[in-house]
Amino acid sequence: MKSRYKVTFQPSGRTVHVLAETILFEAAARAGVLLQSPCGGKGTCGKCRVRVVEGACAPSEACRSALTEEQLEEGYRLACQAKVGGDSVVDVPDASLYEASTKILTSGEGRELSGQPAVWKRYVELPCPSSEDAVADLRRLEREIGKVHVHLDVMQGLPNALRDNAFKGTAVVCSSRLLAFEPGNTEGQCYGVAFDLGTTTVVGELIDLTTGRELAVVATMNPQISLGDDVISRITRARETPGAVEEMQASVVGALNELIEELVAEADVPQEKIYEITVAGNTTMQHLFCGISPAALGEVPFPPAYNRTLMMTTREVGLRVHPNARLCVFPNIGGFVGGDTVAGILANGLHCTDRPAVLVDIGTNGEIVLACDGKLFTTSTAAGPAFEGARISAGMRATVGAIEKVVMNGEDLVYNVIGDTAPIGLCGTGLIDLAAVLLRAGIIDATGRVLGKEEVPSSVPSALCSRLHERDDGKVDVLVASAEESKSGEAIYLLQRDIRELQLATGAIRAGLNIMLQRCGLTADDLSEVLIAGGFGNFIRRGNARRIGLLPNIPSDRLRFVGNASSMGAKYVLISEEARGIVESIAESAEHVDLSMDPEFQMEFGMAMMFPEDA
Ligand code: FES
Repeated sequence: MKSRYKVTFQPSGRTVHVLAETILFEAAARAGVLLQSPCGGKGTCGKCRVRVVEGACAPSEACRSALTEEQLEEGYRLACQAKVGGDSVVDVPDASLYEASTKILTSGEGRELSGQPAVWKRYVELPCPSSEDAVADLRRLEREIGKVHVHLDVMQGLPNALRDNAFKGTAVVCSSRLLAFEPGNTEGQCYGVAFDLGTTTVVGELIDLTTGRELAVVATMNPQISLGDDVISRITRARETPGAVEEMQASVVGALNELIEELVAEADVPQEKIYEITVAGNTTMQHLFCGISPAALGEVPFPPAYNRTLMMTTREVGLRVHPNARLCVFPNIGGFVGGDTVAGILANGLHCTDRPAVLVDIGTNGEIVLACDGKLFTTSTAAGPAFEGARISAGMRATVGAIEKVVMNGEDLVYNVIGDTAPIGLCGTGLIDLAAVLLRAGIIDATGRVLGKEEVPSSVPSALCSRLHERDDGKVDVLVASAEESKSGEAIYLLQRDIRELQLATGAIRAGLNIMLQRCGLTADDLSEVLIAGGFGNFIRRGNARRIGLLPNIPSDRLRFVGNASSMGAKYVLISEEARGIVESIAESAEHVDLSMDPEFQMEFGMAMMFPEDA
C-alpha cells in the first residue's frame, strides 16, 4: 500500500499529494478548494458532499447515514468524513463550495445585500437633435440614464462619440459618474478586479459585473519582498531610505498590472472593459500601494494616514485598465488593523452577528476581531514570523518541499511533504502538528522544554524516543527527517529554540484574544464561533492548534476556517455598492484596542506562552 496519494479536484483540476487516510476535506483545503462545513466537520449537515469519480475512498458510517445507497454507489461522500484511500479524482459540486454559502450577506437590518455593482452599463438609442428638441448632448443622454457627473475628458469626447454613432451607444456609469460613452452595444462586457494585497502574496480575481461571476483568479508574490519580507522591515525602509516609498509603490503596481494582463488573457476579455478595481490589504501594504508613506506606523502610537475608503481613478496609481476606471482602496481601522480585516468582517457578516464571535487572521501579525453586543473590537498582536517558517531552524514557507503535516502512525511519526518530494524543511502547519504530537506523547512539557530520552514517559514508543538527540549543552533536538530522507542530504531537526519561537507566536495570539474577551466580560465558552482567516488558517489542524494553545479549547463545530476573507470582502465591494457603505461604517465604528503598551497584555502573554495541560 502506498503511503501517499494524488488527489485531483474537479472542475478546477487542482491536485495535491496527501498521506493515506487524509480526510478529503483537508486534502481539498490543501488544494485551495474550500468546502462548506456548517456542522464543523461532524458529518451531520451534509453540506460538504463531493463525488469521488475515480479512486478508492470507502464511505464512513456517517456517509452511510447521511447519503442514500444510490448516492454512495455514484461515489458521493461527505468530504469531512471520507478518507483518501488511493489516487483519486474528486468532483466538487458548486453547492459544496464555501463561497456558495457566503455569496449573500445580510446587513445590520437583516436585509440582503442588493448585489448591485457601482458600475453599470446602458445601451441607448437617442433621438437626433432637431429644432423641436435642441437640448444639450449631455441632457439628451441623461434623459435615458439619469443625472451623472462627467469627467472633462468624457465630456470632450461626447459630442463626436454621439454623432459618429448616430446617437447610439453604451453609457458606462460608476456611482453616478459617467466613465465613458462607447460605440455599439457593449452592455455584456463589464468587468472589475478585486485584489487581496498581502505582505507576501497578491491575489487578483476578475469578476463579470453583469453576473457577479468570477472569471479568473491569479496570484503572485508581492515583489516588495525583495525589499523586506515583513511589514516592519518595509516601514523601516520607508523611514530610512529616500525614494523607497516610490520604489515600493512602483513594484507593487507593476505586479498588479501583470496580474491584470494574466486575468484578461485567461478569461479572454478586453482589458479596457475593466471599469473598477478594489484593493484590500493590511494598513502598510495599502499605504505603499497608494504611494503614501507608512513611516508613522513605525512609531508609537502607530497612526495610519487615513481611515476612510480612498476613491480615485486607476490612472492615478498607474493601473492599466479603462483610463477612467475607479479604484477603491479599503479603509483602515488602525496602524496594524487594515483594510484586509475590514474586508474579513464584511465577508463574514461579523458586523451584524447577534452572538459573540471572533475572527482571527493568523500570520506575522495576528489580527483579532471580537463582535459582541453589536460592537466590533479589533486588535493586532505581533505573533512574529514562526508560522511563515522564519526564525525556525529548518523553517520554510508552505511551498514545494515543506513538511506540511505530521501525524503519529503507530510507533513513530510520519510526515507529508508539499509537492510529494523529499523534504527541505518545516512550514507552519507542520510545525504545529509536530509540536502537538510531541506534547501528546509527553516529549515536550507544558513549559515547552523538550525532554531527554531518560526523562520521557515510559509510554513513549522506542521509535519516537530514538529521534531525541541530546546536545552537549543539555538541550534536546528532535529528528524529523534523516539525512537520507531529506533533499539536501542534511538531517532536519526541530530544536528547543524552535519550540520557544512557536510559544512566542501562539502566546501573542492567545493573549490578544484573552484580553479582548476579558474586556467584554466574556470567556471562550461564550463564543458562538471562532472564524479563522488567511491562507495559512485553511491548513491548520484544529485539534493540534488547540493542543498547542493557538486556538481556544472550544468544540470543533465552533471553529470555522473561512479562507481568504480579505479577497472575498474585496469582491463583495465590487459586486455590491451597498457593501461599500457597510465597509465605511465598519471602519468608523470598530474600536481599535492597542495592546502594544498594555501591561495587562504583557502579563497575559507570559501566561499564554505555556502550553495548555491538556486540550
Ligand atoms: Fe461534512 Fe457537515 S457533514 S461538514
